[in-house]
Amino acid sequence: MSQSLSDEIKQEVDRRRTFAIISHPDAGKTTLTEKLLLFGGAIRLAGSVKARKASRHATSDWMEIEKQRGISVTSSVMQFDYLNHRVNILDTPGHQDFSEDTYRTLTAADSAVMLIDVAKGVEAQTIKLFQVCRKRGIPIFTFINKLDREGKSPFELMEELEQVLGIRSVPMNWPIGMGRELCGVYDRMNSQVELFQGNDHSTIEVRKVDDYNDSIIREMAGDYLTDQLISDLELLDVAGDPFDYEKVQAGELTPIFFGSAVNNFGVQTFLENFLKLAPKPTSRNSTSGPIEPSNEKFSGYVFKIQANMNPAHRDRIAFLRICSGRFERGMAVKHVRNKKEIKLSQPQQFLAQDRDIVETAYPGDIIGLFDPGIFRIGDSLSQGSEVEFDELPTFSPEIFSKVTVKNALKHKQYQKGLDQLTEEGTIQVFYSTGNFDETILGVVGHLQFEVFEHRMKAEYGVDIQLHRMTFQFARWIVDDQIDPSKFRINSTMVKDKKGNYVALFENEYAMRTAIDKNPNSKFLETAP
Ligand code: G4P
Repeated sequence: MSQSLSDEIKQEVDRRRTFAIISHPDAGKTTLTEKLLLFGGAIRLAGSVKARKASRHATSDWMEIEKQRGISVTSSVMQFDYLNHRVNILDTPGHQDFSEDTYRTLTAADSAVMLIDVAKGVEAQTIKLFQVCRKRGIPIFTFINKLDREGKSPFELMEELEQVLGIRSVPMNWPIGMGRELCGVYDRMNSQVELFQGNDHSTIEVRKVDDYNDSIIREMAGDYLTDQLISDLELLDVAGDPFDYEKVQAGELTPIFFGSAVNNFGVQTFLENFLKLAPKPTSRNSTSGPIEPSNEKFSGYVFKIQANMNPAHRDRIAFLRICSGRFERGMAVKHVRNKKEIKLSQPQQFLAQDRDIVETAYPGDIIGLFDPGIFRIGDSLSQGSEVEFDELPTFSPEIFSKVTVKNALKHKQYQKGLDQLTEEGTIQVFYSTGNFDETILGVVGHLQFEVFEHRMKAEYGVDIQLHRMTFQFARWIVDDQIDPSKFRINSTMVKDKKGNYVALFENEYAMRTAIDKNPNSKFLETAP
């Protein structure tokens, strides 16, 4: 029995791929996700992911977004099968609902797909998300999108990846022309040409060739584009990085694929190569060492908590990444932090369209647990011996507001709301160190302030007022002899919930100056 369970887990782990797409808004993430789901048969209708996104983003009104939250929960994780692989795509909200959750979700992924607009190159949000992936050392695959439009040259983009992100790249395919002249891509690994037929996107043809000097390419693409292709590829062969599997797995080298998501061009080859190269679910660190997915005992951790859309019910959904063993509906597990046994009776799995009750799930899968208020971000659940996974990273807030309660009599409810909402992890709270007793909230995306204000009123009956501050950076200071009065100009000193000193700076210059003037202090981006 034991042998067959371990075989089953191994088999399921081997075929799983759990990844997140990281990009700047408008690079084409929704479009690419939709094409991937179509290949997997998870959705049947082109346009369904798109329509959902439109309803999510058509308005910046929080109340409207609230109405749509049922939708955003289901699209938080999308699962489909393709070529015997089970694929989990984690959604990383990128528009106005960008928040710490977006970063934290990346901890649940085993690899990332970095999507870049060929004309815009590496953009701000991509940089931030990339850095989080980099710190974790997960493999990063790059898809350069919108090849049907004029854009930067492939060499320029490779240079940008290196200069801006500090990562070397290896093109897996190479464009033959671009924009109006786009003729196709040359697949370097499989020596074949994928033809782009501009007038009828559905008939994309793949032709096997000997190499890039094959006369077939010249017949198809003409002299000008072929000469260009040959000189580019000769240069790449000599000066480019060779494909190195180990470096890709270590996140030091990113394979690049060129294509056009909206035309479904290059997407299928990308998916197939990605599934071959991307890692299966990897181990996660715990206080008792790394937990391998093949471990027969079930374990997992909560990386995201989403409040219920219906204010009448305060229940929430806790997103759990399964790290080892086999999950079965109704199983009893240990809630490690509060040392209680709980039954996982109504778990949800997130498919592209519907919420499903999940019967079994395996490492790499994400399940949604009904949460009557018992979970916190980072909580571990395990079967058998207690496993406590490493704390999840926190992220430096970038927008700050002072908060005041309009009715002082509501202070108790306010405190309760503040505690519960900060537990969900999208908002951080700080306290002033000066003469006034001030509470300051820090977030990564401004929508979180609106959410906070709305929920304080709707769920706790507290009217609050937020006063936007001009700070942009927070640094946790480690120093035995700290003198808060040193931080006055364009900055302020506050304390976090645990009493750690945190300096808030208005601009990078103020922060740099403080760092230079205090060589004995450590300035950390996140809590120590
Ligand atoms: P996001 O989720 O990353 O924010 O991007 P999304 O997929 O919504 O795409 C942003 C815009 O880029 C959309 O245009 C989409 O159609 C377009 N797009 C995506 N992939 C490609 C591509 O390969 N080539 C070209 N030319 N455009 C692409 P939109 O005008 O905002 O929406 P729509 O009216 O076209 O739906």
